[in-house]
Amino acid sequence: MNAGRGEFATRLGFILAAAGSAIGLGNIWKFPYVAGQNGGGAFVIVYLIMVFSIGLSVMLAEFAIGRAAQRNPVGAFAKLKGGAWTGVGYLGVAAGFIILSFYAVVGGWTLAYTVHTMGTLLETSDPKTLGAFFGEFTADPGSSVFYHGLFLAMTMAIVIGGVEKGIERASKFLMPVLLVLLVALCLRAVTLPGGGAGIAFFLTPDFSKIDIDTINAALGQAFFSLSLGMGALLTYGSYLSRQVHLTTAALWVTSLDTSIALLAGFLVLPAVFAFGYDPAAGPGLTFITLPAVFAQMPGGAFFGPLFFGLLSIAALTSAVSLLETAVAYFVDNRGLSRRKATAWAGIIIFALGIPSALSFGALSGQTVAGRTFFDLMDYLASNVMLPLGGIAISVFAGWTIMDRIIDEITADGAHGFPARTIWIWICRIAAPLAITWILVSGL
Ligand code: PHE
Repeated sequence: MNAGRGEFATRLGFILAAAGSAIGLGNIWKFPYVAGQNGGGAFVIVYLIMVFSIGLSVMLAEFAIGRAAQRNPVGAFAKLKGGAWTGVGYLGVAAGFIILSFYAVVGGWTLAYTVHTMGTLLETSDPKTLGAFFGEFTADPGSSVFYHGLFLAMTMAIVIGGVEKGIERASKFLMPVLLVLLVALCLRAVTLPGGGAGIAFFLTPDFSKIDIDTINAALGQAFFSLSLGMGALLTYGSYLSRQVHLTTAALWVTSLDTSIALLAGFLVLPAVFAFGYDPAAGPGLTFITLPAVFAQMPGGAFFGPLFFGLLSIAALTSAVSLLETAVAYFVDNRGLSRRKATAWAGIIIFALGIPSALSFGALSGQTVAGRTFFDLMDYLASNVMLPLGGIAISVFAGWTIMDRIIDEITADGAHGFPARTIWIWICRIAAPLAITWILVSGL
C-alpha cells in the first residue's frame, strides 16, 4: 500500500462509495429523459443489455486495474504497462474535467430546487407554469453560475476531507435514505390518474424503434451512469484492500445503479404522462414533472425539498468521484498536496463549466450541429470519450495484462471467479468490437 494515499476502511464502505459514484444525476435526471427521447421501452431493453454485458465487465476491469496498481488512472497505466497506454489515463482525467464541468451545473439546479421547493414553487402543479419557472431559472446567468460554483465548492470540501472521512462517511449514511424515499415517491407516481400510459411507454418495447441512435444513446448512458471509461472506479479500486471480492462488488454496484435508474423511470415517466407533458422534452423533464407530483401529493411540501436535497447529495457523491480522479493524479504524479490539487482542479472546472451554465440562457442560441455547449460537452464525454476509454480498458485487461488482472480479481486464487471465461471474451472481443461498431456508425 502506498503510505498516505488513504484506503477504504470497510467492504461495505467501498461498495457504497462506488455505488455513490455510479448513482447520481445520471440515474435520476438523465436516464428518464434519455429514455423519453429514445422511445421508452425499446431503449430500456438495449440499455439493460449494455449494462450487464459490457458495463459489468468494464467495471470489474477498472476495479482490478486500480487495485493492482494502487494509483490514479495515469499512474496506473504507466505502472502496469507504460508507453502509449499512459495516454488512456490522461484521456480519463480529461473526461473527468469535462463531465464535472457540466455535471456541476445540473448539481447546482438540484441545490436551487431544494431551496425553491421550500418556497412557493409547489403552489402549482401546472406543467406550463413549472416549465416556465425552470426556463427562467436556468436562463438567469447570475443564479446558474452561482449555484454551479456552490455545488463545486461543496464537492471540493468533501474531497479535501480525504477518502475515508469525507467520501466514505457521507455515502454510507445518505444513499440508503435516498433509496427509501425513491420507493415511496414511485408508489405515488404510478398511482397518479393517467400514469399508466407512462408505465406502458417505459415497459413496452417497440423493437422497430431500435436504431443506431438508440443503441448509441444506450451505450453512452450505460458508461455515464455506471461511472465507467474514465477511471473514477479505477481510482476507487486503488484505495481498496485485497480482502474485497471484486466480482461481488461489481455486481452489487451495477445492480444498485440499475435499480435506481429504473425506479427513477417509474417515478418520472408516469408523472410525465399524467400531466400531459412531452417525454422527449429533454434536460428539464425531471425538474418540471417532479414538482408537479409533489404539488399534488399529501405532504408534498415536506417531500419536495427532501427529495431535491437527497438528489443533491447523490449528485455530490458522484461529483466527488469525478474530482477525486483528477486530484489523485495531481497528488500521485505531480506531488501536489491534496488541498492544492483540489483547489486547482476546482478552479479549472468552474471556468470550464461557465459556458455550460449559460447554455440555457445567454448562450442558448450558440449551437454546433444543433447542440449547445452544454449538450456538446455531455455528448463528447459520454458518447465519445467514455466509450473510447471503455475500449482501451477492455483491451488492456483482456489482452495486454490479462494474467495480472485475473490474479487481481481472484486475489491470487483466493476468490472464485465463475464468470471468468465470459468476462475474458467480453473484454477481448465483444466489448471492443461492439463499442467500435457503435462509435463508427454513430458518426
Ligand atoms: N455515474 C454518475 C451519475 O450517474 C456520473 C459519473 C460519470 C461519475 C462518470 C463519475 C464518472 O450521475
